[in-house]
Amino acid sequence: MRTLVLGGDGYLGWPTALHLSEAGHDVAIADSFVRRQYDHELGVESLVPVEPLHTRVGVWKELTGRQLSMFRGDITDAEFTYEMIRGFRPDTIVHFAEQRAAPYSHIDRQHAVYTQVNNLVGTLNILFAMADIDPAIHLVKLGTMGEYGTPNIDIEEGWIEIEHKGRKDVLPYPKQPGSFYHLSKVHDSHNIMFTCRAWGLRATDLNQGIVYGQQTPQTALDPRLATRFDYDAVFGTVLNRFVVQAVLAHPLTVYGSGGQTRGLIDIRDTAECILLAAENPPEPCEFRVFNQMTESLSVAEIAKTVAEARGESARIEYLDPPRVEADTHHYNVAHSRLIDLGLEPHLLSETLLTSLFAIAEAHKDRADPEAIRPWIDWRRTTNRPPLTSPSP
Ligand SMILES: NC(=O)c1ccc[n+]([C@@H]2O[C@H](COP(=O)([O-])OP(=O)(O)OC[C@H]3O[C@@H](n4cnc5c(N)ncnc54)[C@H](O)[C@@H]3O)[C@@H](O)[C@H]2O)c1
Repeated sequence: MRTLVLGGDGYLGWPTALHLSEAGHDVAIADSFVRRQYDHELGVESLVPVEPLHTRVGVWKELTGRQLSMFRGDITDAEFTYEMIRGFRPDTIVHFAEQRAAPYSHIDRQHAVYTQVNNLVGTLNILFAMADIDPAIHLVKLGTMGEYGTPNIDIEEGWIEIEHKGRKDVLPYPKQPGSFYHLSKVHDSHNIMFTCRAWGLRATDLNQGIVYGQQTPQTALDPRLATRFDYDAVFGTVLNRFVVQAVLAHPLTVYGSGGQTRGLIDIRDTAECILLAAENPPEPCEFRVFNQMTESLSVAEIAKTVAEARGESARIEYLDPPRVEADTHHYNVAHSRLIDLGLEPHLLSETLLTSLFAIAEAHKDRADPEAIRPWIDWRRTTNRPPLTSPSP
């Protein structure tokens, strides 16, 4: 199977590319390296040093004999996208290549516009290229559980049966996203669903939970194969942030009361879910939705779990919530379709936390505790400008 991983230099794209390569896929990676530029813009960096992509690809070849092809370019550039897909002729395109931080999309007008242009135009270019070059290509697209928001009913896996005035239909589950970033994913989902219906494309939309963890069996082979570990207030996901705060003996900063409940997934399961989706493609015209999460926990429960695993030294501090979101709410999510395909989830455990603490300990000299304080406010009252800005 020939698999093109868009965004393959990122936190999840890189370990997924290695997982697919080890499973025998012929893998190509594409990336614009814009994620590395956001670090310069925000004045932060991955806690774990990350080698340039060509070094990582070379080390993987040296250790395993497996070759990864590379395309450097921006998928919002249609010419680049068409040439790459014509040249590599993938069976599957795994699409991670988006701006993925909700706070980043709320810095100011430019960052909201940049996020939506980057994400929507990139995905549209992929859809048109698939239709024009080979409509049989399977698109595996990363969406987010945040697309659904927090309705006061159970969240189903993509679709919901509705009875209205005596008639029934199965309709896309309502989406109530909480940021310009999450909105970009909803708009993407609509564009993908429409092109499956109109042009006969096939796609899997993966509504992924918040990912935690930093190592997979493949990245652990050599420090030069490491993936990113973001812990800052803009790109750091909640559990990774708490682990760094605990290691620095700083309070774990919870927004509001911490009652916000979210779907979570271990990085090793992300890579496995992509493999399962790629190897079990949908039919032509099918727009398939999986909820890619394995457990749900409230932010307060995550903080408590990290604090307890760390021992008495970890304290919790409750901050005014920078986001506009429900502080406590119903959250019960259907997520059985990837399990049906064979996923055996890793649940959050002491062992995982111990290994995350060890990673954070090893690199704690690189950590800037100030970078973890939230400074982007959904209500636009306290935002300060970043060091530089994106071009739109
Ligand atoms: N990390 C999470 O917890 C999480 C949760 C849910 C969904 N997701 C989704 O998974 C995907 C990957 O997330 P991640 O955490 O690896 O993000 P990341 O920012 O680390 O990686 C994304 C990669 O895509 C590249 N990219 C962005 N725009 C591009 C463009 N126009 N052309 C080419 N390359 C481009 C970036 O340079 C980066 O290397 C994203 O779509 C994200 O929305 C992530």
